[in-house]
Amino acid sequence: WNATSLSVVVVGASGDLAKKKIFPALFALFYEGLLPPEFHVFGFARSKLTDAEFRDVIASTLSCRISAREKCQEKQEEFLRRCFYSPGNYDSAVSFQELNRRMGEVEAASGKQRANRMFFLSIPPNVFIAAAGGAADHCSTKTGWTRVIVEKPFGRDSASSAALGRGLAAHLREDQIYRIDHYLGKELIENLTVLRFSNLVFEPLWSRQYIRNVQIVFSEDFGTEGRGGYFDQYGIMRDVIQNHLLQILALFAMEPPVSLAAEDIRNEKVKVLRSMRAVQLDDTVLGQYRSRRHGGRTLPGYLDDKTVPPGSLTPTFAACAMFINNARWDGVPFLLKAGKALHTRRAEIRVQFRHVPGNLYKHKFGPDLDSATNELVIRIQPKEAIYLKVNNKVPGLGLRLDTTRLDLQYQSAFNQKELPDAYERLLLDVVNGDKRLFIRADELEAAWELFTPLLHEIESRKIAPELYPYGSRGPVGAHYLAAKYNVRWGDLA
Ligand code: BG6
Repeated sequence: WNATSLSVVVVGASGDLAKKKIFPALFALFYEGLLPPEFHVFGFARSKLTDAEFRDVIASTLSCRISAREKCQEKQEEFLRRCFYSPGNYDSAVSFQELNRRMGEVEAASGKQRANRMFFLSIPPNVFIAAAGGAADHCSTKTGWTRVIVEKPFGRDSASSAALGRGLAAHLREDQIYRIDHYLGKELIENLTVLRFSNLVFEPLWSRQYIRNVQIVFSEDFGTEGRGGYFDQYGIMRDVIQNHLLQILALFAMEPPVSLAAEDIRNEKVKVLRSMRAVQLDDTVLGQYRSRRHGGRTLPGYLDDKTVPPGSLTPTFAACAMFINNARWDGVPFLLKAGKALHTRRAEIRVQFRHVPGNLYKHKFGPDLDSATNELVIRIQPKEAIYLKVNNKVPGLGLRLDTTRLDLQYQSAFNQKELPDAYERLLLDVVNGDKRLFIRADELEAAWELFTPLLHEIESRKIAPELYPYGSRGPVGAHYLAAKYNVRWGDLA
């Protein structure tokens, strides 16, 4: 680091993701002293801003964590002084050459001999390859590494994703490409492998022998709200299930890797994805939220969003049952569910264990033995937690049983007011060249293969989603799907 400067270029610097996530994450890393002393940020986008105007934009996005207020103002000012802006078009060689010139100037002024450069492409898919080409061909550093971060959508199906991959490969080597799935940067997902592989009590139970089903659930209590233009082209399957939830599934279900090295972990993820059966239409439920009167006002339906084309059939909710055809998981349903405009915001993994064989206390639970089985819940957000539902005797004379929790609440257990944002971890990993939490090309391919036939069938047959009211628990179809596999969603309590 001592002899090397770091330039981070945000391509698409005036976009939503940049403002909400990337700049705040860069600032947090800077604040914590985790970036090299000669570190600079370059914004690149079409709007014609000066450096000063760009700094104003960034300033409005920065805040300090509750626990880190000390010298916050001072640090923000220092951070802003390191921010520069270069306007341009994503498909223009001249614009990237100009960006390269400005970066060269700033890097030279830092007095370091070498420069590393990292690009975050936070731009619409239609300009993706052009911008990757511009960055790689005109802005690669000659004295250090050049890395490019890309984020979904990685195409719409297997074929378009492969085409995108070829486009990127024409300009960049695989080791330069960092495919982000920000769910992998979340604390509880990082912890998943630790939980499995550094405790004796979980891994031996991690199989069809003891696990009845696994549920991976994502819900948001808000709709697309103006983001419908983007969302409508993709729908919830591509937006959340094929990437975020499937990634969680892969980490959850993979075999123990040979080591913690990126390639070893990703080899196992690919293996488990390739052991899975592509999702079937009759194992899928689709929904779309409609408007609802609530507390004297109308909550708008998906089709009321002005950015959504009239009559759109795009699902805002989907649930599907998936299966892994290997010795460990044969026959265990993995139920994935994701929806917008539901009653709550939550992401969690629920592991429902089998019944106790020959349970001596069976008679105490009445006919509903399912509700008395152990359940492990990993709550990814909000209020990160891990808890295990166990049966106990209610204290007192007589014998009454009840299900209670062994409960680990992150905030109180670790005395941390706020956990780092996923983007902080992931950006730092790129700086350090750590690819453990990034998606490899063959992994992406395997993920698309599981969903592409289904997505094509839904679209060609114009399958209409089931409507559900804004703020509800989603379409009833999800319960029938679960019932088909003898499963009860665990997130209803
Ligand atoms: C994004 C999706 O990848 O993840 C959004 O495109 C979704 O539709 C978001 O809202 C959820 O992320 P988080 O971190 O807020 O749960």
